[in-house]
Amino acid sequence: MNSDVLLQVQEMQLGLADGTALVDGVSWQLQAGQTLAVVGESGSGKSISAMALMGLLPPAVQWQSGQAFLQGQPLRDLSERQWRTIQGRRIGMIFQEPMTSLNPVMRVGEQVVEVLRCHLSLSAGQARDRAVELLSSVQIPEPQRRFSHYPHQLSGGQRQRVMIAMALACDPVLLLADEPTTALDVTVQAEILHLIAQQQRSRGLGVLLITHDLGVVAQVADHVVVMYGGRVMEQGPAAQVLASPAHPYTQGLLRARPSAQRPRSERLQEIAGIVAAPTRQPRGCPFAPRCASSLDACAQLVPTVQAIGPDRSVSCWLHVQEPRHG
Ligand SMILES: Nc1ncnc2c1ncn2[C@@H]1O[C@H](COP(=O)(O)OP(=O)(O)O)[C@@H](O)[C@H]1O
Ligand SMILES: [Mg+2]
Repeated sequence: MNSDVLLQVQEMQLGLADGTALVDGVSWQLQAGQTLAVVGESGSGKSISAMALMGLLPPAVQWQSGQAFLQGQPLRDLSERQWRTIQGRRIGMIFQEPMTSLNPVMRVGEQVVEVLRCHLSLSAGQARDRAVELLSSVQIPEPQRRFSHYPHQLSGGQRQRVMIAMALACDPVLLLADEPTTALDVTVQAEILHLIAQQQRSRGLGVLLITHDLGVVAQVADHVVVMYGGRVMEQGPAAQVLASPAHPYTQGLLRARPSAQRPRSERLQEIAGIVAAPTRQPRGCPFAPRCASSLDACAQLVPTVQAIGPDRSVSCWLHVQEPRHG
């Protein structure tokens, strides 16, 4: 395995005990020090994939086959004890709504201290100093004073900064961020993305960023994985995928993306149809029922993954070359 690969997912399949597939044969890899964005509409299987990679799958969901490796270490079937050496230590996490992840009745500085003391053997004084340093490094103004504030006394953006400080407290190699800016307004969203990018550069972090927003992908991602119905539709270098999307689903997501350049008169084109429940997936491509370009084969057979450039692939019958005869 290439030593620059931080996290590798191979044919990961997650599902329910009754056989319903939620994530089906997903493969990608995140290079050390880079940002990989997983993008797709709600219900595509982004969060459940991330939960598997953190050892936090809900009891109803099973990791049925495939494997994932963090710096070469296989993650499937780790024990609770083994996961504790990874969660919060080698992988830091932030989620959409910091208010639900922070303890409302505990001072924010104490919450950072708690993470530090849970994972590292620091004295109370050392942990406090380190917590103030961390609050300062995520650009919380007056960190000494903010240390003693409760979550409700901070703005949404500051709460997300506290979450980032907690996620980075133990110097993880990977930051996993699931819709970290979805609950924030646009200006604050840009600030938080900027902060994540800055921490990534200064710490050499790998970032796994989950989002439904291609605008976020454009701002920060090196590589993008487009998911729909629990499968990867296409993936590749973010700039290339955004400039020339190969899959009709990615093309639809791009048309549905609000843009400053788009004249206000021009309405956003939503992708027609709705996301099907996992129990009602077609046998073939999950996007086939909503796809304006679908062929007969699309509803019948899952398309094989086609390489369409260095580090770039698509799973779509429109890109499968006809077999040559004679
Ligand atoms: N605990 C669970 N039990 C059963 N199904 C679940 C559970 N969590 C998520 N799912 C299903 O898995 C699919 C993918 O969900 P999720 O990963 O949360 O999507 P996304 O993050 O892309 O919006 C959805 O159909 C969802 O209903
Ligand atoms: Mg989600």
